[in-house]
Amino acid sequence: MQVKSMNDLFLNTLRDIYYAEKQIYKNLPKMAKAAASPELKQAFEKHRDETEQQIERLELVFEQFGASPRSIRCEAMDGIIAEAKESMGEVEDEAVCDAALIASAQTIEHYEIARYGTLIAWADRLGKKEASKLLGETLEEEKKTDRLLTDLAESKVNQDATA
Ligand SMILES: [Fe+2]
Ligand SMILES: [Fe+2]
Repeated sequence: MQVKSMNDLFLNTLRDIYYAEKQIYKNLPKMAKAAASPELKQAFEKHRDETEQQIERLELVFEQFGASPRSIRCEAMDGIIAEAKESMGEVEDEAVCDAALIASAQTIEHYEIARYGTLIAWADRLGKKEASKLLGETLEEEKKTDRLLTDLAESKVNQDATA
């Protein structure tokens, strides 16, 4: 699709995060399965449920822009997920594997935080208040997940991994 306006750019970026969220949704169960720490497992499972809602929110945002939901491949997210899978397969020690999983998950969250921050700023400029609000709800969930992962790493997983 040709990008001729800010509206087009917004929609293209929305399609990128729509693709990314769907990939994340598909892969979070694998990360939950690979996690040894019950808290980490639970964090991934909870975020999968949130991700399902985030996908629905994106569909509402498409609607507000008069567009049908469509994905465009996000090479960045494919790369981050490929790396996550690689490290899951490589690390034998359970606690070290959890540390690697957290590192991958936080890379994913930071990508999402960057994307949602941009989309919110653009939605505001384009006068789409409801879209901005929906994207803001998701951004808060991403930030909360990121903080939870930091807490899990610093309170336990990193200690176990270096014990
Ligand atoms: Fe997300
Ligand atoms: Fe997320």
